[in-house]
Amino acid sequence: MGSDKGKAKPSLWEPVRLGGLLLRNRTVMPAMGTGYASVGGEVTPRLTAYLRTRAEGGVGLIITEVMAVHPLGKGFASELGIYDDSFLPGLSELARAVKGAGAAVAAQLHHAGRETFPQVIGDQPVAPSPIPSRAMGQMPRALTREEIGELVSRYADAGRRAREAGFDAVEIHGAHGYLVNQFLSPYSNRRDDEYGGDASGRFRFAREVVRAVKEGAGRDFPVIFRFSASEDVKGGYDLDYLLPLLPLLVQDGVDAFHVSRGVYDSPGNPTCPGLHHPEGINVEHAARVKEAVGVPVIVVGKLHDTRLAEEVVASGHADMVAFGRQHLADPHFLAKAMEGRHEDIRPCLSCNQGCIERLMFEFRSVTCTVNPDCGNEWRLVRGTRGRKGPFLVLGAGPAGLQAAITLREGGAEVRVVEREDEPGGQLRAASRPPHKEPYRRWVDWAVRRLEGLGVRVEAGRSSWRDALPEEDWEGVVAACGSEPVIPSLPGVELSHNLEAREVLLEHVRPGKRVLVVGAGLVGMETADYLLARGHEVTVVEEAETPPVSPLTSHGYYLHRRLRDEARLLLGARVIKVTASGAVIRRVGCVEEEVEADSVVWAVGSVPRREPLQAAAELGLKAESAGDAVEPRRLLEAVHEGAAAARALLYPEEAEEEGRG
Ligand SMILES: Cc1cc2nc3c(=O)[nH]c(=O)nc-3n(C[C@H](O)[C@H](O)[C@H](O)COP(=O)(O)OP(=O)(O)OC[C@H]3O[C@@H](n4cnc5c(N)ncnc54)[C@H](O)[C@@H]3O)c2cc1C
Ligand SMILES: Cc1cc2nc3c(=O)[nH]c(=O)nc-3n(C[C@H](O)[C@H](O)[C@H](O)COP(=O)(O)O)c2cc1C
Ligand code: SF4
Repeated sequence: MGSDKGKAKPSLWEPVRLGGLLLRNRTVMPAMGTGYASVGGEVTPRLTAYLRTRAEGGVGLIITEVMAVHPLGKGFASELGIYDDSFLPGLSELARAVKGAGAAVAAQLHHAGRETFPQVIGDQPVAPSPIPSRAMGQMPRALTREEIGELVSRYADAGRRAREAGFDAVEIHGAHGYLVNQFLSPYSNRRDDEYGGDASGRFRFAREVVRAVKEGAGRDFPVIFRFSASEDVKGGYDLDYLLPLLPLLVQDGVDAFHVSRGVYDSPGNPTCPGLHHPEGINVEHAARVKEAVGVPVIVVGKLHDTRLAEEVVASGHADMVAFGRQHLADPHFLAKAMEGRHEDIRPCLSCNQGCIERLMFEFRSVTCTVNPDCGNEWRLVRGTRGRKGPFLVLGAGPAGLQAAITLREGGAEVRVVEREDEPGGQLRAASRPPHKEPYRRWVDWAVRRLEGLGVRVEAGRSSWRDALPEEDWEGVVAACGSEPVIPSLPGVELSHNLEAREVLLEHVRPGKRVLVVGAGLVGMETADYLLARGHEVTVVEEAETPPVSPLTSHGYYLHRRLRDEARLLLGARVIKVTASGAVIRRVGCVEEEVEADSVVWAVGSVPRREPLQAAAELGLKAESAGDAVEPRRLLEAVHEGAAAARALLYPEEAEEEGRG
């Protein structure tokens, strides 16, 4: 320690310069496409309110989501546009709102290249070479040199517009497999003209874009260059390839680099690191970049905890840290961290379900599994107008916990009655498999939040019915979850039939060889849990294709685990449990016996609707939420819990708010 005397380490919380721009601290909110803009690409009140809320949370710099520099460069229908002066009023409004809340704001300039659909742009996608990505499967056409020249000038126009609209900086999106990245990479650029051939040829487009933006926006206007330090795909580049070329971009005018990772085809989506990815996945890359470039470096990637980010900055591995999904999960986490209130921060789970996977696979606008307010900031009803209760919440799983939080935050009296000895519902089991610990952290956060609001869960109340007549309830939230099912088959009465949740909670212990029935999320995770404990695992699933998509980050991990370490039998149905295992029938009616010491059932569950009925029979106003409506996911439980609470608190506004 003594040797460091007089040499103050940089702090995440101190100001930093980005070109000529002074940021109030070294925290960044990176670009995140939301789907909140209009289909025409204009700024909406929803988008502005969402970003203003994040700026109010204390972040130094907000980088907006992708903004198309050309109509053919849109990656999704409601991508923001900056390709025409008509966008200026909306963009100015957005920049004003963010800056008014104390943060600096940069516009992310984007062209999707081949990573889009003809349905989105009304034309064939363009790219350096006519090679489709595996992920999108869209055959692009190669840009001509004239078209490249025209595109470069579009970047210059976009830079000028960003400055005119009042932005403080721009970020050139050179990452994640989009057009600039496509040019950089031998994976997607097979040109033999001056824009291809070798690494410096492949770099030409990026260099021209940087120079054009500087020309359009002015030499003094800060430009950040975002890139994937490694493509994580066979045939793609790694940092050794890029590193010697990055200083050229500094010569061209880049003021800072933003180190990300991955392209569309990278398995398991390292761009938005999932549950199984390590924290700070890009820190080592950032440190190497920092040594090479001599301008500030921003690092991103599963750095949700500011204490870790503080270490990254203090150790000099990066100058700034970007927090993406943590900003969705809790827009005020930075303010809380600055006050040392780490335990009040609602943690991002890295589940990807409510954000990136919802945008990419469900084509729906972004929200957050654990933050039901994310994307609703513009129409939140809060304050003193709500009903005062008392309200009764039955069930302290995620739906019940969230309902109680929302009711209490609305100023109402609440009691929460839970049948089990502990709150958390299925998340107690869900957090047991490898890498699922963040789900437990959410429960801990919710219980703390409720306690902070003066509510203690009344756990261990198996006599839940008694609670209904205990007070003159203004309303009831029935959030009693779901009951696992075990089908009635010959042999299910044998003692080696076990249920997945019971196994995960260690209420029962399976033998060495386990047959897991069902390859949905619960079945696969139970298999993973058992593998981690040294069991020999076979999984049978009656569907021909696995219910868990291998395209999702977590699905990719689970499929790889089962492929490498277990036996997965698809299109196979258990028809009988025997003393030594189970008989399965496979496609073509072939029967076979699978030997196993235990048979673990994970074939779904049915809603517990009795408490809702009991409340209704007493004439109480009752709302249901989560798995008690229909077994689904944490996202639905949390969001419906909040919606049920709002429906009771603000019955007049409930319809207008659009429940669910
Ligand atoms: C192993 C496993 C892994 C999972 N992994 C994921 C995942 O990765 N991502 C995801 O999104 N979802 C996952 N899920 C699903 C997710 O956990 C559920 O969708 C979610 O917990 C549903 O929340 P809920 O509050 O509606 O119900 P529950 O979580 O079932 O909570 C209901 C609560 O009500 C209590 N209760 C029941 N009856 C009464 C009564 N009469 N009175 C009082 N209390 C009562 C129960 O004891 C329970 O605590 C997983 C589930 C399991 C089992
Ligand atoms: C919903 C969502 C949308 C995203 N959209 C963009 C985008 O528009 N531009 C971009 O460069 N990165 C985008 N990303 C990647 C993030 O900027 C960030 O690199 C990633 O979330 C990892 O950081 P985190 O672990 O802090 O969330 C997006 C990520 C998410 C979750
Ligand atoms: S949906 Fe999941 S990964 Fe995305 S921000 Fe919310 S908690 Fe984090």
